[in-house]
Amino acid sequence: MSDDSRTSPAGAQPTAQPTARSAAQPTARTTARTAAVIPAAGRGVRLGPGAPKALRALNGTPMLIHAVRALAASRAVSLVVVVAPPDGAPEVKSLLDAHALPERTDFLVVPGGDSRQESVRLGLDALPPEYDIVLVHDAARPLVPVDTVDAVIETVREGAVAVVPALPLADTVKEVEPTATPGEPEPVVATPERARLRAVQTPQGFDRVTLVRAHETVTDDVTDDASMVEQLGETVVTVPGHEEAFKVTRPLDLVLAEAVLARRRLNDGF
Ligand code: C5P
Repeated sequence: MSDDSRTSPAGAQPTAQPTARSAAQPTARTTARTAAVIPAAGRGVRLGPGAPKALRALNGTPMLIHAVRALAASRAVSLVVVVAPPDGAPEVKSLLDAHALPERTDFLVVPGGDSRQESVRLGLDALPPEYDIVLVHDAARPLVPVDTVDAVIETVREGAVAVVPALPLADTVKEVEPTATPGEPEPVVATPERARLRAVQTPQGFDRVTLVRAHETVTDDVTDDASMVEQLGETVVTVPGHEEAFKVTRPLDLVLAEAVLARRRLNDGF
């Protein structure tokens, strides 16, 4: 067992053969093994003062534990790599040990970096070789339903190199010329056609080789992993997202997340 693992994924598992790929013809990865990387190293300043966002409680349980359980709920996911705040790996390891998690899943904890991108890369670096499909899931989306996770995995298994859950937008979106001072009127420069826009969520699913290449190649600041794969010229596809996979960013999102959990408890009771 390695120093930074709760349970070691190495050794016990059979090694899947890497699948050959062709740009013209998607190659099915029906036997590929799937790991999830959960970047959880953000401070979450938009939530207000307090613990790092991923460690804040929802219904008494840290958001990160909800997110880990949401990914481990998929029977296809056999390893979850949690990327902890740079100085918070021991605390995160203790948290995972203290909460009930599926026996069939292995867990690793690694320290994260200054940006989400760097944190994801550090998580990818920790993956054992036998995983051919990688999901990247924000700890800040603790309530993603397992059906969404499975739909992403299935689409990568069918041959897509990059898959994102996506929802149509309710709001019209404007592109503006940002001003230096918050609150100043900003000139609108364009209104993209709403029907062609999607809000994308996580987990985003990838052919591992493609995602690693994207992280080695793309140095621009990005806000999701799929956009790095787009920059390689590879095709990214969407699957339907879910309203419960929203990102907890602002204080009101905590209220909404508690309400979703309350609704689930009520539904489970019947
Ligand atoms: O800041 P944002 O909400 O986009 O963060 C998305 C996810 O990336 C969160 O789960 C956060 O913990 C993670 N993150 C990270 N390392 C950073 C910054 C953000 O793992 N340095």
